[in-house]
Amino acid sequence: MEKEPFVLSKKLDHVAFIMDGNGRWATSRGLPRYLGHKEACNRIIELFEVCREFRIKYMSFFAFSTENWNRPQEEIDHLMDYLELFFKKEIDYLDSVGTRIVVSGDLTRIREKTRGVCYESIERTKNNKKWVINVCLNYGGRDEIVRAARQAARLAKENQLDPASLDEKSFRDFFWVPDLPDVDLLIRTSGEERISNYMLYQCAYSEFVFTGVRWPDFKRDAFVACLKEYQRRDRRFGGLTNE
Ligand code: IPE
Ligand code: IPE
Ligand code: MG
Repeated sequence: MEKEPFVLSKKLDHVAFIMDGNGRWATSRGLPRYLGHKEACNRIIELFEVCREFRIKYMSFFAFSTENWNRPQEEIDHLMDYLELFFKKEIDYLDSVGTRIVVSGDLTRIREKTRGVCYESIERTKNNKKWVINVCLNYGGRDEIVRAARQAARLAKENQLDPASLDEKSFRDFFWVPDLPDVDLLIRTSGEERISNYMLYQCAYSEFVFTGVRWPDFKRDAFVACLKEYQRRDRRFGGLTNE
């Protein structure tokens, strides 16, 4: 018997992924860790297609955290290699379907070649309106908030900002991507159940779904299972139940 196709009826504007488990995926196969990162890139474009299918406009991918500098330089280099390859391979397609690429994180510490590829992709796609892919690179939630506070304080000191005018919404003007909406659904793969300094401000009311599937194995079916789980949640935002 044909199963009814899943219809996503709950509002879902922004899904954020903590793409974890690449290393374990590789080592469990007797492969070097970096091959897990290579395989990981293929999932990004596949999941982008699923997001389009369900009309999820904003997608955030945690590619490299402010804490990931603690890894061996060789692994960091591999990660940057694959990120460059991802953009080279996919940018024509992403652009052609109306995707705007944005980056959250301080690119000045990222090696020149990777930084250049990121800036090119951002510039080339800046007027696209249909989809938004937010690549989080050298990103930390605390870092984003501290930088925003610093910038606001600087403007206030120069009399360009009235501190009393700052509120929860306008504070976001100082974030990496000011128009990025709150995260509706945060998915972390690989069985770890922590936020690891991701989107601390934007996840204040997100639904969290943790799956044991490692990111390189996180394909359409596993993602749809997370969407189904999300659909079952009762989002109350401090009020009373909607259901
Ligand atoms: C996630 O996979 C990728 C990054 C953090 C860049 P990991 O490399 O953390 O994989 P595990 O957690 O060691 O398996
Ligand atoms: C989080 O994964 C960062 C990214 C996915 C880029 P980690 O593997 O770095 O997180 P921890 O160290 O296990 O918390
Ligand atoms: Mg990890």
